[in-house]
Amino acid sequence: MCGIVGYIGDKEVLPILIEGLRRESYRGYDSSGVFILKGKEGILVRSVGKLENLEKKLEGIKIEGNIGIGHIRWATHGGVTEDNAHPHFDCKKEVFLVHNGIIENYKELKEKLIEEGHNFTSETDTEVMCHLIEKYFNGNLEETVRKMIKEIRGAYAIAVISKKDPQKIVAARMSSPLLLGINKDEFLVASDPAAILIRTRQVINLDDGEIAVLKPNDFFILKEKPIQLIEWTPEEAEKGGYPHFMLKEIFEEPEAIENAIRGRLIPEEGNVKLGGLENVEDRLREIKRLFLVACGTSFYAAKVGEIMFQEYAGIDAKAEVASEFRYKKQALDENTAAIFISQSGETADTLAALREMKKKGILCLGITNVVGSSQARETDAGVYTRSGPEAAVAATKSFLGQISVLAMMTVFFGRQREMSLVMGKRIVTELAKIPVLAKEVLKKAPEIEKLAKKYKEFKNFWFIGRKYNFPIALEGALKLKEISYLHAEGICGGELKHGSLALVDENFPTVAICPSDSVYDKMVSNIQEVKARNGPVIAVATEGNEEIKKLVDDVIYIPKTLEMLTPMLSVMPLHLFAYYMAVLLGHDVDKPRNLAKSVTVE
Ligand code: G6P
Repeated sequence: MCGIVGYIGDKEVLPILIEGLRRESYRGYDSSGVFILKGKEGILVRSVGKLENLEKKLEGIKIEGNIGIGHIRWATHGGVTEDNAHPHFDCKKEVFLVHNGIIENYKELKEKLIEEGHNFTSETDTEVMCHLIEKYFNGNLEETVRKMIKEIRGAYAIAVISKKDPQKIVAARMSSPLLLGINKDEFLVASDPAAILIRTRQVINLDDGEIAVLKPNDFFILKEKPIQLIEWTPEEAEKGGYPHFMLKEIFEEPEAIENAIRGRLIPEEGNVKLGGLENVEDRLREIKRLFLVACGTSFYAAKVGEIMFQEYAGIDAKAEVASEFRYKKQALDENTAAIFISQSGETADTLAALREMKKKGILCLGITNVVGSSQARETDAGVYTRSGPEAAVAATKSFLGQISVLAMMTVFFGRQREMSLVMGKRIVTELAKIPVLAKEVLKKAPEIEKLAKKYKEFKNFWFIGRKYNFPIALEGALKLKEISYLHAEGICGGELKHGSLALVDENFPTVAICPSDSVYDKMVSNIQEVKARNGPVIAVATEGNEEIKKLVDDVIYIPKTLEMLTPMLSVMPLHLFAYYMAVLLGHDVDKPRNLAKSVTVE
């Protein structure tokens, strides 16, 4: 999400910044900007849309200088406007800063700074850092940055230039990647190796809490660090070193969960803070019926949400496919609300259903990944997933972001109603652990690749699951269909015997999602039904369950968590399985035939 480039050296800086930003642009962005310093004078140019728009604005402006920072932004706080594009600056236009990440306590800081007389020009969380640097400036930029970061909470990678301490770039990081490029007579800073590789392969990865200072002939980090050599080609680097966007995005699933929950959990109160719902909080208290409306993978997230809301929030929830929902007669009254779920916020079917509900006067909420999308603009209130851009057509990490938000909404609604403090605490505490557990699941990738090799000749697959993992069976099957073009269907475990079982034989494998939860015993019965017909079975089971090994052909273990959160961990092996199958079958994983990332026709 977003990209930073900074350069200081003996070359003209502008072409280097633009090329660096172009190399980072695979991440997706909606606006861009550069700041270049010459002597004590600087030029700031920003633009919305493609990098070409920025370049057009730069044409005809005489920009010389050997120090500069650039940024591509993917909106999280505030819409896609030039004022919200980076670099941001302070009141006196002396400090210029680019930022990736999220500053969690920016609202409090902004209010205080405004009281103290600071003038803000953007809606971003980033801008508070410029004003804090202005406030604390003591003649030395790195010392001031050190003081500033003590005040902020959240994730950041930043690069800063000050006209008052001009011959340097100061960079700092916390939970957001940032690295330095070291070359003869020049130094770079970037959030992505792709931007550095255009000039050097020698890099230093900054660690959390570290501050680096780049000067024309010298650099230092406020700690000694070894220089490393990057082996990637620039092309590999654009996918973060992964062969496909889809694999990169699956490996970003723990981060997607982390981003969704960052700053939103209040464990001591057993509650969550969802800023986007604050203006409708009282109306939400009255809601008794809730529709969750979406398409594709987002619909399966809606189905997980439906069970969470029913079980813990005390709301009569119902997941509906957007393209059907619009044409159905629904019982609607003032106590009904609808949540529209869409990664892109531009899916035509979902938008049509949203507009229909708005016409009927229903309170419409949104869960989306894209700030300023049609859905975000047209809903009454909502929560962003903050999953970062998703380039592969088949959704993966955004699904995890959506379920994270739905779990938080469950706590939000539940605590407005009958959910106890103890239960609220339990869910919030377990949710906070999921990113770490999700990283454990990713360690199974080589094992899952081996499984894909074993099963790649089969042409048909059942995916079975019950309760929270029935939607995951649907998602596992959809993912396999989408990219490997094999026949796969998701069925609830109990339904298998009512028809589908007729197809099972030694050539028809079943993927059974059977974590140790309230429906585990029933799932075992369903697995036995398959085994009795010689069907091969791959189980996704909870670590420590040795029994299951005796029953099935292959097992992928996932860590234990709360039942309602198991879908987040159980879906990850299925994303990996679909990915490896498609690669082995030689398909275009990121751009499957006949499909589009954002379907803007009904
Ligand atoms: C397309 C994509 C799917 C996605 C669906 C809904 O069909 O190929 O991966 O799940 O749209 O997209 P949305 O942006 O609304 O979540």
